[in-house]
Amino acid sequence: MENQVNAMPRIGDLAPAFQAVTTQGTINFPADYKGKWVILFSHPADFTPVCTSEFMTFASMQKEFEALNTQLVGLSVDGLYSHIAWLRTIKEKIEYKGMKNVEVTFPLIEDITMNVANMYGMLQPGESSTKAVRAVFFIDPKGVIRALIYYPLALGRNFDELKRVIIGLQTADNFSVALPADWRPGDDVIVPTAGSCGVAKERMDNASGELTCYDWFFCTKKLSKDDVESKLGK
Ligand code: BEZ
Repeated sequence: MENQVNAMPRIGDLAPAFQAVTTQGTINFPADYKGKWVILFSHPADFTPVCTSEFMTFASMQKEFEALNTQLVGLSVDGLYSHIAWLRTIKEKIEYKGMKNVEVTFPLIEDITMNVANMYGMLQPGESSTKAVRAVFFIDPKGVIRALIYYPLALGRNFDELKRVIIGLQTADNFSVALPADWRPGDDVIVPTAGSCGVAKERMDNASGELTCYDWFFCTKKLSKDDVESKLGK
């Protein structure tokens, strides 16, 4: 039977709902995660090297994500027993880059039917018709998809960037600001663009002195790392 390939959900959409069997029992997604941020991610296959390096990294960073009120949920189109066997192998046998005895305690969805993978556009037939690509959905506490990143089979994810995205989304929400290229906590943030000629003039005259304006439409202000960190996880 040919796989059905759906359009992928987009930024601003409600995360499509599903019930699934996982290595931590059945989950109802996203209802079970109301009030939390979620990183829902797919990987191509169990017992493969890039995926193994990624799972060990996700598991090693799980507490850092939890400190950001963020839960991890993984998926591949393999079956439950394959998932269990792979996670046991990771814990018992694999030592990689200083990580060893790594226990994956976040849920890993079995998706043999490819139901969830199709629903989330994780199957991209130009790359593979049998394996999900490395999709990452960032879902907010109201179940809205706020960002998504796709990687191909051969390239492992950048975990520093995954964490930066969560921190950036929470910062943009908490402080009603936008964040410039390569922003990190402690860097200047972008204030909403002037909405009237008067405000544009005021900003260029720099009446308040709190803003740095590169032009009337591009003004930044300071936001300390401490202030950012005091709101993270909210
Ligand atoms: C990997 O995780 O190593 C992998 C999975 C599927 C295709 C290529 C690499």
